[in-house]
This record gives sequence, C-alpha cells and structure tokens, in this order.
Amino acid sequence: MLIRNRKSWEVPENEATPHSTYLNRRALLQNAGLAGIGLMMGSRHSIAAPVSGFPPVRNPKYIVQRPLTSEKDATTYTNFYEFGSSKNIWQKAKKLQTDPWLVTIDGLVDYPMEIDAADLVKKLGGMEERVYRHRCVEAWSMTIPWGGFPLSKLVKLASPKPEARYLRMETFFNPDIASGQKQSWYPWPYVEGLTIDEAKNELAFLAVGLYGEALPNQNGAPLRLVVPWKYGFKSIKSITRFTFTNEQPVSFWENLSPKEYGFWANVSPWVPHPRWSQSRERVLGGGSVETQLYNGYEAEVSYLYKNRYTDDKRALFY
Ligand code: MTE
Repeated sequence: MLIRNRKSWEVPENEATPHSTYLNRRALLQNAGLAGIGLMMGSRHSIAAPVSGFPPVRNPKYIVQRPLTSEKDATTYTNFYEFGSSKNIWQKAKKLQTDPWLVTIDGLVDYPMEIDAADLVKKLGGMEERVYRHRCVEAWSMTIPWGGFPLSKLVKLASPKPEARYLRMETFFNPDIASGQKQSWYPWPYVEGLTIDEAKNELAFLAVGLYGEALPNQNGAPLRLVVPWKYGFKSIKSITRFTFTNEQPVSFWENLSPKEYGFWANVSPWVPHPRWSQSRERVLGGGSVETQLYNGYEAEVSYLYKNRYTDDKRALFY
C-alpha cells in the first residue's frame, strides 16, 4: 500500500472462478456434513475451526447486486502485512495458531474480560451471513459472503462507560510466526480504530468466517473486523485486543503515512489518494466500476458524519 506504486491488483482472468463453484462446493459440504470443518485436502481454509455454527444462515437484508468474488481470489489475493507485503501470503499464514486464541476486552468498560475467541463467539449468540462489498484503498474490490456477528453485540457485552468514545483494536505480535513483523520500520502491532458510534452501526461486523466456512488464516482468523463503507485497511484481521478509550487511536497505516491513510478512511470517490484516483475500482475477477460514496452504504452510515463534514469532502477520508 505504502512503499511502491504497484499494479499487483491485476489478477489474471484465468484465476477467477465462477460464483457457482462456491455454491456447488458449499452444497457438497453440507450434504457430506463437512461444512465448517475445513478438512478438504489442500484447503486454503484453517485446519481446525475454533468456532461452530457453520454454515451460517444468510441475512437477506445484506446482499449485493454484484456477483460474488470467487472464493479462490478472495482467499489467495490478500493483504496481511504481518506475513509479508505480497498478496500471495496464504501459505505463510498457515503458521498462525488460532485455537486457542486469547482476546482481551479492556479500557473504559463495565465488563473487562480475557476470553478465548471460541467462548466469545458463543457469548455473542447466533452467527449470520452477510454479503458485503469490500473496497481496498488500492482501487480494487471484491464481494464477499462473511459469517459472523454485528460488532454492536461485542460493544453491548463490554458495556462501555459514558466517557468511552473510541474502540481501539489490535492484532497479535509474533515475529517468529509472522515474518513480516521482523520488518522493524512498520509500527507493529497492526492497530485500527472506530468511534463507538461507528462500532455500533448496524453494518460494522465481526467476521469469523467466509463462504460458509471458518475464516482461513490469511483472511484474519479467528476474528476480524469488517466495515464495508470504509477502505479495507480499516478492517483489521486476527484481533487480540479491543480497548474502549477516550483517545482517538492512531492506526497502523495512519501512523506510517497520515497524508495517504486517514483515520476516517470512508470510501469517497472524490478524494484521490495522493498517488492515484479513487473514482473507479477494478473488480477482482473482471471489469471495472465507478466507486460509490461510502462504498454504496450511504443510507446506512451518512448520519455518522453529518455533523463533522460540511464543505470539505477530504474530511470524509482524513
Ligand atoms: N489486518 C492486519 N492485521 N494486517 C493487514 O495487513 N490489511 C488490511 C486489512 N486488514 C491488513 C489487515 C487491508 S490493506 C485490506 S484491503 C484488508 O485487510 C484485506 O482483507 P482480505 O485480505 O480479507 O481481502
């Protein structure tokens, strides 16, 4: 994202597989009673799913009028700098042990806790599937069926004190497993943040799965954020800590280059990145489309920014 002006998002057409492949595979797994176990030989998914409840039932409120990205593209073309800056890190990410996985919830809350991800998921209740658009700041996009929970459920569980204004999230730090973390010029661990109001927005989602199965490591197992109205870098993977605070968190990319990666990072076609336009996006699997304000989720999220932004459209991003 930062260092070079690359065009690595140009995935060869022949890597794309049609939507029907996902549906057929899912039906097959369901019939065989294997869904969610990830035992397929050579699977790009985790070996052990730390949570149960797969495949989740799709919530018809959250669908997208675009074909789903092929599961292969979504699981092999990934950004996870902990394992290196190339897109093809899915094999390296297999080293990550995601079960058990300790999650800390702390800061300005009534109920701080240290809890295993699987137990947290049980506490959060029934899992659902949502299909969301996913727009990377690098000007490519996907459409992905995520399995998980509204983030608002975690906020409710923690019960933030009235003075808490932000939710800061952090990824693991383990350079022995994640060789990208040996690159000391990056401000590890990966950090992201939202306002509490953003975290309570109906779209903010904690994903534990995709395409009907447990999240593969490269997509952020066992637990990652999905905020589809913001650029993808806000959707932090493999979260270990949720801290409720009254200070605006400085996120990983913002820390590295605040002029390129703002805290708000709402998808906004009129705010170009300093090195490229954001008016269009390359759709993985083929074609290109105009980028939409808030990535097409204006109706759901614009109330969050009404008081902040008047004439300066750049403020949607910075
Ligand atoms: N989270 C962590 N911990 N490390 C990362 O490098 N990359 C971000 C985001 N979350 C990243 C991360 C970026 S730039 C994007 S576009 C999305 O993850 C990509 O999610 P995907 O690989 O599942 O498509």
